[in-house]
Amino acid sequence: MPMIGSTDRARALGRAFERHYGHEPRLVARAPGRVNLIGDHTDYNGGFVFPAAIDLETLVAARPGHEDIAVWSVQFEQSDAFGPPPARIEHHGGWQGYVRGVVSVAAEAGLPVAPCELMIAGDVPLGSGLSSSAALEVAVLEALDALFGWRLPPVRLALLAQRAENTFVGVACGVMDPMVSALGKRDHALFIDCRSLETEAVPLHLEAIGVQIAVLDSGVPRTLATAGYNQRRQECEEGLAVLATHLDRPLGSLRDVDRREFEALRVELPPLLGARLGHVFSENDRVLLARRALATGDVTTFGRLMNESHASLRDDYEVSCAELDTLVELCGSEPGVLGARLTGAGFGGSAVALATAAADLDRALARYQEQTGRPARMWRLAAADGAALLPLD
Ligand code: GLA
Repeated sequence: MPMIGSTDRARALGRAFERHYGHEPRLVARAPGRVNLIGDHTDYNGGFVFPAAIDLETLVAARPGHEDIAVWSVQFEQSDAFGPPPARIEHHGGWQGYVRGVVSVAAEAGLPVAPCELMIAGDVPLGSGLSSSAALEVAVLEALDALFGWRLPPVRLALLAQRAENTFVGVACGVMDPMVSALGKRDHALFIDCRSLETEAVPLHLEAIGVQIAVLDSGVPRTLATAGYNQRRQECEEGLAVLATHLDRPLGSLRDVDRREFEALRVELPPLLGARLGHVFSENDRVLLARRALATGDVTTFGRLMNESHASLRDDYEVSCAELDTLVELCGSEPGVLGARLTGAGFGGSAVALATAAADLDRALARYQEQTGRPARMWRLAAADGAALLPLD
């Protein structure tokens, strides 16, 4: 029951806030991390993604303050103080950069920001590819939204979080992570069309159909800011520019190109760009098929699509790593595992697997640890709600 856990944690954070600042917070907000079931490296190409919010979350307690924006991180036992706008907000590494980033873009967007006291806690693991950064950004925005009466719709909040990461933190990430952190729904996966930003919550009747989804952390830390992610984005843009010279219409993203048009023009692209774009087109198709498979309870097809997605991310998009490949292969060698793939950006981080038997996943994980010596972990997916305020009493 994630909500009960959240409420207990909100109260504990409220007490910590009181000890630190000398008075109770006015409110506590939460925002979850995410796992992407299928559809990676499609969001920044205007494509389709199919993530779920997970029951690991970031909590932010808040109250109006006096001079500046004061922040305390329970996890890091560190403080920060800056602003408020119009005072210039300097860049900062680490967790502080995300908090400063969302405050900075909110002020730029004309939203009122005043002195306040914030306290942050949470259990989304850092560097495991489960979007701890989006959870932090969205949780801070959710708290400030309530504190300053912005009343932003969740999609606007997600776009602000993405802008903070793009323009302040300096990572060219897409919109998937903050969207699902803001809009996720308990026991559902969230289909997102990243061009229109339309979403559809699709029920995950996992128990009824006798399967479970697990998140397996490979224990290989990933850093989104490393060159690989931004380089893939740039390659997609280069590919799009080549296609645009042959198609006589403006192209906003790869989504504006038909798969048949792409196949016909593929010879015009250098082979590397052809492979990169090939992944994006095939992955978009897989997301649509996976959504249909899930809706009809066809878990065998869903699993097969997950396997195909991993192969495409590994071979065409080249964002896997040896450990993730090993983890996915070991999952695949267990009879009760229907499918597995890396999830999120890749270059380390986590895999997601669909299985009929939990014991098979345990075995795959144990063999992975034996073979690689990595400190792997596993969570059984309990799809959670997106960002919300939590009751304090
Ligand atoms: C990271 C980014 C997302 C998305 C995934 C890959 O999680 O933050 O926007 O691009 O990688 O699908």
